[in-house]
Amino acid sequence: MIPTTDIQPAVFSPADQEEPLNALQKEILELKAERNAVILAHNYQDAAIQRIADYLGDSLGLAYEAAKTDADVILFCGVHFMAETAKIVNPGKTVLLPDLEAGCSLSDSCPPEKLERYQKANPNLYTVAYINCSAAVKALSDVICTSGNAMKIVERIPEDREILFVPDQNLGSWVARQTGRKMRLWPGSCYAHVLFTVQALEKVKAQFPGAPVVAHPECTEAVRDLADEVCSTEKMVHFCKTTPADTIIVATESGMIHRLRRDIPNKTFVAGPTDRCACNDCRYMKLNTLQKMRDALLNMQPAIEMDETLREAASKPILRMLDWSRS
Ligand code: 13P
Ligand code: SF4
Repeated sequence: MIPTTDIQPAVFSPADQEEPLNALQKEILELKAERNAVILAHNYQDAAIQRIADYLGDSLGLAYEAAKTDADVILFCGVHFMAETAKIVNPGKTVLLPDLEAGCSLSDSCPPEKLERYQKANPNLYTVAYINCSAAVKALSDVICTSGNAMKIVERIPEDREILFVPDQNLGSWVARQTGRKMRLWPGSCYAHVLFTVQALEKVKAQFPGAPVVAHPECTEAVRDLADEVCSTEKMVHFCKTTPADTIIVATESGMIHRLRRDIPNKTFVAGPTDRCACNDCRYMKLNTLQKMRDALLNMQPAIEMDETLREAASKPILRMLDWSRS
């Protein structure tokens, strides 16, 4: 492993004017119009994808957008569980995911059969599933949450119910601490967010004195404890806009920096480094490319397909979340 001392932080100073669209981006926009499609993209996508998205956001915002769109086709630039959620909430649409291999380590850490066995052995648990899980896990859950509404959701659960929180132990322990609710935590984690360390962040903090750290709740407790703000990717935009600081250290996936520079062009962002690298990419998010987006719109593949019984079962806890989240 390269020692932390050799890694220079990736600093993104105030953004320049946006580049003109390239030929591939123009082709995608033409195909989008022909197909009556909408492009929904997560904040972790590459800048070139973010540039042509109709909506950019976190998992919660993307779920609301997918539910309300009247386009015929949703080209979903994110990972599989996000596209699957779009299909669950709006089954009449064709949902395209540019690369079906765009998975998620959190989702992988909770196979539905294992969860079902645990629930059978421990009846009466109230299962709260972080949206980063498969449709089959959602179907076994009482309610879904995202990093943007987890506290609000957990606060709605009757006090006398014991909570099982799946699959992210880090988000779960953060919510347990904020709400004071005792929870059983599934031992899953995001392989990318757990790479942030106190050592690497302390070093970058020393290089940018006074710069606040904003971290995603999927980070470890030690990292969350040193952060000035812990929140979902969408709430990071609000924090960075409203903090008086003009330089901010961002401990989440590197694509977030593009979104921040687009919305807040006058500030400087430092990508949170890990012990191994200056920028922390999610290997799954980065499987989506402009070429694959173009091909998906041309071929109307790969599309998310789902058994209707599974879809209906998975939709109940998602709709409960969307309802609780609104009020
Ligand atoms: P957000 O919902 O905060 O965007 O998080 C999604 C995610 O996968 C974080 O790793
Ligand atoms: Fe999953 Fe982590 Fe990638 Fe988010 S960053 S999609 S939690 S692997």
